[in-house]
Amino acid sequence: MCGIVGYIGNEEKKEILLDGLQELEYRGYDSAGIAIIENEKLNYFKAIGKLQNLRDKTKDYQSSGFGVSIGHTRWATHGKPTELNAHPHLGKFSFVVHNGIIENYQELKTQLQEEGVHFLSQTDTETIVHLFEYYYSQNSDSFNSFSKTIDRLHGAYATLLISESSPDTIFFAKNGSPMLIGFDGDDIYFASSDTPIIGRATEVYYLEDGEYGYAKNGEVKLFDKNGEKSFSTKPLATDKAMAQKDGYRFFMEKEIYEQSLVMSDTMIGRVLEDRIDFEELDSELFEGVTNIKICACGTSYHSALTGSYLLERVAKIPCQVEIASEFRYKEPLLRDDTLFITISQSGETADTLEALKMAKREGLKSLSICNVDNSSIVRESDRAILTRAGIEKGVASTKAFATQTMVLWMLTLYIAKLQKTISQDRLDIELDAMRHTPKALLVTDKLHSKLTRLSKRYLHGHGFFFIGRDLFFPLALEGALKLKEISYLHAEGYPSGEMKHGPIALADSELFTIALMPKSLHYEKIKSNVEELSARDATILAISPEPFELADDFVQTIYDTHPMLEFFEMMVVTQLLALEVSVRLGNDVDMPRNLAKSVTVE
Ligand code: G6P
Repeated sequence: MCGIVGYIGNEEKKEILLDGLQELEYRGYDSAGIAIIENEKLNYFKAIGKLQNLRDKTKDYQSSGFGVSIGHTRWATHGKPTELNAHPHLGKFSFVVHNGIIENYQELKTQLQEEGVHFLSQTDTETIVHLFEYYYSQNSDSFNSFSKTIDRLHGAYATLLISESSPDTIFFAKNGSPMLIGFDGDDIYFASSDTPIIGRATEVYYLEDGEYGYAKNGEVKLFDKNGEKSFSTKPLATDKAMAQKDGYRFFMEKEIYEQSLVMSDTMIGRVLEDRIDFEELDSELFEGVTNIKICACGTSYHSALTGSYLLERVAKIPCQVEIASEFRYKEPLLRDDTLFITISQSGETADTLEALKMAKREGLKSLSICNVDNSSIVRESDRAILTRAGIEKGVASTKAFATQTMVLWMLTLYIAKLQKTISQDRLDIELDAMRHTPKALLVTDKLHSKLTRLSKRYLHGHGFFFIGRDLFFPLALEGALKLKEISYLHAEGYPSGEMKHGPIALADSELFTIALMPKSLHYEKIKSNVEELSARDATILAISPEPFELADDFVQTIYDTHPMLEFFEMMVVTQLLALEVSVRLGNDVDMPRNLAKSVTVE
């Protein structure tokens, strides 16, 4: 996730770009940069870290009078957060900003290098500007060169390009990453979301995937694969607070809805036709490794548990999971044939970081799965895989959990292939299921309104048990954690086969059981466990693709062939349930009492 702003007009461009980027800083703040052409001359500034650094760097620069300008705030995916890797990226006479991932950049880069092009950064983005200039050197037609460039890109992008070859024009293209165009008289704005242009533009057009074109002389020319097309604008919202949440009531709600999209980002360039590839990893990391230990806290611990089922079952590698705060003081016996994995959304959780340092002192190789590049845990680890969930604002983690779990599933297949513990047929089945995940994460109106209706029945009682078996046990733990974090009601996650060894003593009509009953994994076994609870009068909310007649309430899911698709679909149901219960109880969904997003104390 990165943020983009663009502007053509007579106003002070630096201020428009910096104010706009400020609104988008939530999308990433590894570095920021702006490029402006006025009087046919290019100027640019970049700074690493928060936007304030760029403000400080540009304080003496002024840019009033007609010109074109683009700006970017970065969330690193390819290459470290350095000034060279910061956008805008420059060619000889042009600049580009980009949000998304160009999947075939390596191939394009190699071709351009063979033509003698020199690259300055490690980013995928830089290929765009060189490709544009390469075509321009052949045909001297800016728009033609830009369309040819866009034609060559595979993957997700929202991109803006300016060039001394057309000093009064901004070229734009969108596919898979958000971008809109704002209008106010002859002034034209571009941005990744509404907020940077609210209060400046009055009309807006939300670009569709596959659209591209250029803005010049107060006009926008729009194209797609069928050629030039007309479009109509609509009035721009005026409420900024609402716009930051993209119209959702809470950040948590927005983040639940975003999961489908960010999951695609997590997979781009990694889920290939016949295998998983992580450019962050190589076989050397796994040399001599016969065992995996994963350490994490909170929600990240639940994704770790899910991963341990996958790693042992599919990759056939022994895997233990530890809560970081426990691990630190248990005087653990560590062997150097163990790969030590830490999982953290923030990359700053004190217990997880300390656990990692302990493992490193014992000489273990380390890998982190993290959402924040350049965080302490990422810097401390030998290798890191970024989850690419984008900034998560709701304290109750949702999309971070989903993407961590996806990375662990991908890592399982990566290791399985490396250690030859998976057949190509089985791998193909897993990859196929993986590609369906974004669909399984889509929230339909029907599902959301069903959970809104159901939630009113779950506001009291003496407790909730979320139950599941196998992979669905960690999901039960996570479902219970979500509910208690934001509803303040007591909830526990439990393995359903274990209920009869104690907790079933609590069963009565005021005990709410949320039963995760996937069709593709031990259905009959779970069913028996739920029947035992129902026989003791517990109130059952069953979540399953299979109708269950003893359920008091029932949410029917769609996927029933692959456990992970069932997992992700049911995960969304539990998140929405927690959200709607919390809303009805009048709690602060995004900032629940007593909690913090990042816990940097022991
Ligand atoms: C806090 C947050 C949780 C999170 C946990 C671990 O308690 O409120 O949502 O799961 O920390 O955080 P991490 O950033 O390491 O994943």
